[in-house]
Amino acid sequence: PKVIFRAPDGDQTVDVPPGTPLMQAALDGDVDGIIGECGGNAMCATCHVYVPAGIADDFPPITAAEDEMLNCTTSERRPASRLSCQLPAPEHDVLVELPEEQ
Ligand code: FES
Repeated sequence: PKVIFRAPDGDQTVDVPPGTPLMQAALDGDVDGIIGECGGNAMCATCHVYVPAGIADDFPPITAAEDEMLNCTTSERRPASRLSCQLPAPEHDVLVELPEEQ
């Protein structure tokens, strides 16, 4: 599916196989705004994204480790906040929003 990373200055789109963590998709696609410092282990919070409410159920629920790390995001944590390394790409296209900073 296509994964669209939305930022105020425009969209960046990457096409990846289903199941690819969105953080990995961003790195593979040279997306600006995702760092993924810990390599996808829910230990750095530099892969923070906002998942629009309507598609929250497309992803697995937040684990305790992710929840704890989400308290360490640089940009404000919101109800829509997720760590993109914990979000496998679904079968269909998805759009997530990038925070201001990682
Ligand atoms: Fe480090 Fe997601 S890549 S928490």
